[in-house]
Amino acid sequence: MERKRILTGDRPTGKLHLGHYVGSLANRVRLQDEYDCFFIVADLHTLTTRPEKEHIEALRQNVHDVVLDYLSVGIDPARSVIYLQSAAPAVYEMNLFFEMLVTLPRLQRVPSIKDMARAANLNDETLPFGLVGYPVLQAADILMPRANLVPVGRDNEAHVEVAREIARRFNYLYGEVFPLPEVMVGEVPSLIGTDGQAKMSKSLGNAIFLSDDAKTVTRKVTGMYTDPNRISADIPGQVEGNPVFAYHDAFNPNLAEVEDLKARYRQGKVGDVEVKDKLTRALNTFMDPIRERRATFEAQKGLVEQVIYEGTQRASHEGEETVLLMRKAMGLSGLWNRISRKAREAQEAKA
Ligand code: TRP
Repeated sequence: MERKRILTGDRPTGKLHLGHYVGSLANRVRLQDEYDCFFIVADLHTLTTRPEKEHIEALRQNVHDVVLDYLSVGIDPARSVIYLQSAAPAVYEMNLFFEMLVTLPRLQRVPSIKDMARAANLNDETLPFGLVGYPVLQAADILMPRANLVPVGRDNEAHVEVAREIARRFNYLYGEVFPLPEVMVGEVPSLIGTDGQAKMSKSLGNAIFLSDDAKTVTRKVTGMYTDPNRISADIPGQVEGNPVFAYHDAFNPNLAEVEDLKARYRQGKVGDVEVKDKLTRALNTFMDPIRERRATFEAQKGLVEQVIYEGTQRASHEGEETVLLMRKAMGLSGLWNRISRKAREAQEAKA
């Protein structure tokens, strides 16, 4: 029996952080043996808000950084396919077919589109058609290898729902081609930033990156937001919603230590320094193997590019197969075959 498939990925907008890890990367690494995995570097999606040439030029570095992050956390290119979206052409064709299978009001209700528009300073008048179509392109990504499972963070759940609806509609109109992809959200679906104000995000400057060195992690943890009402160590503090404890929960495997810290924090019997020191230690222990793998991969010149190149060939091949199935199911292959046959016949009759 064929193994089930995963497709997920990221826009190459910069380095990945701890929020990406707990939202999706951890699931990817864990499921590599159980599923055939496809990881997309979604450069076309960055064009929805940043089509300018300067941003396309920045992709060179950003694509490299994202893939190096993938390899560093333990995505294994021998088992999993890592590929560049813009270089696997099936997705353009699938995107167009899918645009016919979803309504504009349905897309306008997807909350993340409004968020992305706001973040990019776009209003109703300047909103690009392609940004409204963002979830359609993502559906094409997901359905290109006919994926069964999509591990993503909470912010992408609604997009996977659109992909399911499109797959269902395609199958209904033309016959069973696609499995209905299931969403899988990580253990911490949305990790709070070091500022305690919003989810971790590169653009908000509240992120700890997977590529941060030990010194940087120490500095960021030291400066982290905690309970603002706790002006001295003997005041009972609030654990809930406190990012320091959210990170302890997510990254400190020593549950007894975390419970003890929480209890003493609530009683006003522990200083922030101790809580943060222990967090720094836990984070660096978690990140050390990631750093080691990064160093190994970085030392091999051209390796990242080789991984992308080979993965993109493999993904393109899958995409070609899917598009063929789609064109057949839709009757477009039949249309063209008939025209070709008649043209040939006419040619032969003349000869
Ligand atoms: N939308 C994802 C993000 O927020 C990136 C992405 C593009 C993606 N295509 C995908 C995620 C397909 C999962 C599946 O960056």
